[in-house]
Amino acid sequence: MIRVWLFLLTASSIFGQSFNDYDLKPHNYFGAPLKDPMSRFLERLDASGEELQEANGKPLVKRMLDELEIPVTSQVLVFTKTSLQRRAVNPKNPRALYFNEDVYLGWMPNGRIEITSMDPDLGGIFYFQRPLDQTNRPLFYREENCLGCHAGSATNFLPGLLARSVYPDENGRNLKSVVTFDRSGHQVPFNERWGGWYVTGYHGEVRHLGNALASGGRRAPVMETKGNANRESLEDYFDSDLHLRPDSDVLALLLLDHQISMHHWIMEAHYRVRQGLHDAGIEGRSRDDLRKIDDYSRSELESCLDKFMRYLVFADEASLGPETWKGAGAYRENFLANRKTDSKGRSLKDLRMTERIFDYRCSYMIYSKSFQALPGPLKEEIYHRLYRGLVVDGAAAKGFEHLDGDEKIAMAEILRATLPELAAYWETLVAG
Ligand code: HEC
Repeated sequence: MIRVWLFLLTASSIFGQSFNDYDLKPHNYFGAPLKDPMSRFLERLDASGEELQEANGKPLVKRMLDELEIPVTSQVLVFTKTSLQRRAVNPKNPRALYFNEDVYLGWMPNGRIEITSMDPDLGGIFYFQRPLDQTNRPLFYREENCLGCHAGSATNFLPGLLARSVYPDENGRNLKSVVTFDRSGHQVPFNERWGGWYVTGYHGEVRHLGNALASGGRRAPVMETKGNANRESLEDYFDSDLHLRPDSDVLALLLLDHQISMHHWIMEAHYRVRQGLHDAGIEGRSRDDLRKIDDYSRSELESCLDKFMRYLVFADEASLGPETWKGAGAYRENFLANRKTDSKGRSLKDLRMTERIFDYRCSYMIYSKSFQALPGPLKEEIYHRLYRGLVVDGAAAKGFEHLDGDEKIAMAEILRATLPELAAYWETLVAG
């Protein structure tokens, strides 16, 4: 017993506070002023004195999507009892998720609205609608219980986003997780993805676990993949009258998967650098200051950044195969609406949808508020690595091997033209 205590004491005095103690300084998750879209909306509402009059259900969901600028076409549907409102979700009453680049909203008929709003400094801020039969409380409130799942091992104990792929039974219960499915992301092979989700759209010969119920029991669950592939409509599965839309667009699913992990890496790197600089007692001006972080934290940061960079440039993206995927809905247009183009009209959002999602493989999330709020030294380090990988190191660039010369040139041109801060930093490297 004494030995255990001694070990704990020594460990904590060597390592100090862990980077993911999000409620402590310097992160201060529960005390810091909030800058996420939902908190801002609630402040605006409060200042205006207006009370939301929309009826529960569809009218209120629509109003919230409008206020948070989330396109309704981003709808994806998940029908497993893997989240908070277990009782309300099942294959006949799936949970709808909607999202843009900063905020995610979940809802199901006869359920309450759940919102994860990304604060650029803190990660996910979780809001829950009050119980449907209680009208004397604020309509939305910040709920700590969400962290029980949303700040667990899947997010490295930071407040973040989740996705799971499971073998569901006919009640939407999870018989078994898909074994190798660790963290959601564009690297997960399609034959492991979307168990417990509905999927509409065309995806050629590729097979996924969506739209299917498992048979064969817990030990050896089996999913029918062929008959459930390339579905234009979900009418064979459930009656969608109670939802805002009848589909679960495959493009929206691809991008949700991509974003969940991108948000994760942005947040993890942010927390690590903030903690490291705080422990070193410096503010941090340039990437050189990252060297002043203690050895142990720096080597962990290094390995986090290697994964971050691979993910940012889609190094391990699962192949979409030779056929061109097509979403069923109008989501594509909404997704492209805020694309930033260079003088040749190219952008990081240009969709290829054959073999891979994008023409130019640097995530558009580089423009997101979460990325742009990263500490200066960290952004400089990332811009530096992009410069080496795309411009200087040629074919030898580690983590960029999957990109050919033309794509690298195009990516560098687009980044220069659309991200002034990166362009300015790259100028100093050229000059030096
Ligand atoms: C029992 C674990 C659990 C709890 C508690 C929980 N969630 Fe989730 N949440 C999940 C899982 C798992 C997903 C992935 C989609 C799914 O399986 O439904 C998810 C997905 C979401 C999404 C879609 C974005 C994303 O992360 O994929 C939102 C929004 C969300 N949850 C909000 C909340 C809010 C707000 C609360 C608290 C009021 C909450 N959740 C509590 C497990 C949970």
